[in-house]
Amino acid sequence: MRQSIRFYLGNVRHEIPAFSPTRTVLDWLREDKRRTGTKEGCNEGDCGACTVLVVRLEGDKLVWRAVNACIQFLWMLDGAQLFTVEDLRSPEGALHPVQQAMVELHGAQCGFCTPGFVMSMVAYCKTPGASMEEDAINTALAGNLCRCTGYAPIVRAMKRALS
Ligand code: FES
Ligand code: FES
Repeated sequence: MRQSIRFYLGNVRHEIPAFSPTRTVLDWLREDKRRTGTKEGCNEGDCGACTVLVVRLEGDKLVWRAVNACIQFLWMLDGAQLFTVEDLRSPEGALHPVQQAMVELHGAQCGFCTPGFVMSMVAYCKTPGASMEEDAINTALAGNLCRCTGYAPIVRAMKRALS
């Protein structure tokens, strides 16, 4: 068993006492926290449906990373802040600008991949100097797969969210 860890989920501090060292962030989110917005697709790091944001203080900077929750072990969150798609709405209920752009530009069809895309897009928005160039956007979203949209509306939504 793993010793206790501490981290934030959204703005709520969590301390997890003892748990299996192979418990994944995805299973913990979906089973323990009922945060089912984070989807399980391949469960082996290939599809991006389970993408979440992990924020760490590195030096004097906050670094935002989109990670696949299915291949992150829970203990890896020690000292970090974790955000899922459920954390994006404002306190008044407004969608995040990335979500709004996805709605307006038809970036979702069946929607299964959408939370994962949205989290990768939010991470890209947080990247210093994030480029509007299509190649850079394609690279940033390369870890997310969609079987419905053909990607063009998602790229358009990414550009709008950046503008
Ligand atoms: Fe496919 Fe995690 S479920 S990458
Ligand atoms: Fe259906 Fe992306 S909208 S898989």
